[in-house]
Amino acid sequence: MNGSLKNLEPLWTRSAIEMVEPLLHKDMKVFEFGSGSSTIWFAERVKEVITLESSPEWTRIVNEWIKERNITNVTAHLRDITKGEYMSPILAGREAEFDLILVDGAFRRVESFERAIPKLKMNGYLLIDDSQTYSWSGVFNIPSVKVYQESIPDKTGKKLSIFRRL
Ligand SMILES: C[S@@+](CC[C@H](N)C(=O)[O-])C[C@H]1O[C@@H](n2cnc3c(N)ncnc32)[C@H](O)[C@@H]1O
Repeated sequence: MNGSLKNLEPLWTRSAIEMVEPLLHKDMKVFEFGSGSSTIWFAERVKEVITLESSPEWTRIVNEWIKERNITNVTAHLRDITKGEYMSPILAGREAEFDLILVDGAFRRVESFERAIPKLKMNGYLLIDDSQTYSWSGVFNIPSVKVYQESIPDKTGKKLSIFRRL
């Protein structure tokens, strides 16, 4: 790795980053809805990252970060978010495969959250950023997952919630 490159961190609050970092270890497999600096941050801390992104422009930037850091444990998928099959082909057949799934894409977060649950190992971590904006959605009342930890909300109320699969 080129030591002059900037250390990238997820676009979460400091409290959220500090809450998630101790959960990560080198044999974990991570799936991410919404690529970004989080992709790089996870890749440097876990075994494998699969990421799904809907913006071609953003994908170009993230792919550049991956390339310049010689990161080899990320598989990046770009899919048209307006298509019904946006996530299906990528998640098909991946039952109970992931240790951690992050829901942090630009669109369809509630659907992503619901679709992620069967793809998690038992006790796997399901993260949703900006969770304060999803209290209407029912994600906090799904019987197969339980809130595990929440970051301290910032001035705007922004927080990240971690659930675990039961
Ligand atoms: C809040 S970003 C978070 C992405 C990632 N999980 C992270 O923490 O870095 C959510 C989405 O915003 C979209 N986006 C587009 N342009 C962006 C930009 N300049 N910075 C951040 N996100 C951007 C992308 O589709 C991205 O998946």
